[in-house]
Amino acid sequence: MKFTRDKRRDKSGRRDGGTQPPRAQDGGRNKRPERKVEHRQEKPAPRPEPKAERRENHTPRPSEQRNEAHSEARSETAQRVLRRREGILPAEKLPLILEVAPNADYALLDSGNGQKLEQYGPYRIVRPEGQAIWQPALPAKDWDRADAIFTGDTDEEGMGRWRFPGQPLGETWPMKHDGIDYLGRFTSFRHVGVFPEQASHWDHMAGLIENSKRPVKVLNLFGYTGLASLVAARAGAEVTHVDASKKAIGWARENQEMASLANKPIRWIVEDAMKFAEREERRGSRYDIILFDPPAYGRGPKGEVWQLFEHLPALTDICRSILTPKPLAVVLTAYSIRSSFFAIHALMRDTFAGMGGRVESGELIIREQSAGRALSTSLFSRWVSA
Ligand SMILES: C[S@@+](CC[C@H](N)C(=O)[O-])C[C@H]1O[C@@H](n2cnc3c(N)ncnc32)[C@H](O)[C@@H]1O
Repeated sequence: MKFTRDKRRDKSGRRDGGTQPPRAQDGGRNKRPERKVEHRQEKPAPRPEPKAERRENHTPRPSEQRNEAHSEARSETAQRVLRRREGILPAEKLPLILEVAPNADYALLDSGNGQKLEQYGPYRIVRPEGQAIWQPALPAKDWDRADAIFTGDTDEEGMGRWRFPGQPLGETWPMKHDGIDYLGRFTSFRHVGVFPEQASHWDHMAGLIENSKRPVKVLNLFGYTGLASLVAARAGAEVTHVDASKKAIGWARENQEMASLANKPIRWIVEDAMKFAEREERRGSRYDIILFDPPAYGRGPKGEVWQLFEHLPALTDICRSILTPKPLAVVLTAYSIRSSFFAIHALMRDTFAGMGGRVESGELIIREQSAGRALSTSLFSRWVSA
């Protein structure tokens, strides 16, 4: 089954970890075994022309930068036969636009001319933003006060890809989210270690955990630097956090220390998300809340290839299978894909057929402080039990 990949590059600053399309043909060596899907179309339906923001070329995160020669096939991955689940479809709510407004921890100060000006804790940062096709609302003098500017100079690594107009800054700096301390960091990939738009999901999840008045187990797949895991642990959940990148897990552990949440039960696991979920299914491990925030393309620690359009249906299906008898929610975020939230909404609704509850889908956006324009960051779809 072939999928059209958009190879155009742009300078957008949307969430981009793991969305690098395969850089070389591998002759199928690294593909997951084809899963048998009933009623599968031979060719995907034509997708609408993507918005500018969905056409990014994404600089790979460390886990996606592996040498092709080191990658491994998923030979042992069992074939999963996907069957349409039976039962009444969950209720639906869409479109749902979840918005992050400027706040004391983070603010999108202004945007325009293909860039965005953000306040991350103490620092004012300029990064590329392909969607910002409008003009900045703030005068140039406000942009000139930036502490750090992402240049993306590919001859450089890490901090070298940033310019510091004032004094040189250290690689990391203290950040906060709703009272949780963690580390911001200037990375090669223009990220700073947090996706602020995710805060809408974190608040929702924390509410579910606190209101449940019972022990709650959370699985955070593709968890990155761990903010969601820390929020869940602080709310009282037992958390399992999985990411392919050893570096990201190291950073997440540092964040746990920074947040003074070292005594909270969080398992940090470097593993391929799909492999881990499959293993949990076999072992009978169950979760009340599952978050999964997969890139369009990524690699597991042993080079296992993750292709969202190819593997998301199976992973979603496994997520349903590893829920406790009284689950609370399953939250999927997707970004930089040539799709609409209607697609992941349909997948989630079909997958959660017979479970009751409701599927809510839409976009995560960040509201700009200067002129109130909205920056779309990702699509999401979540199943909630009540
Ligand atoms: C967009 S980030 C997730 C962001 C995170 N949910 C948050 O809000 O901070 C995508 C993550 O997926 C990880 N990743 C990529 N491919 C993977 C795979 N096959 N298995 C597990 N993690 C993977 C990357 O290392 C990266 O940390």
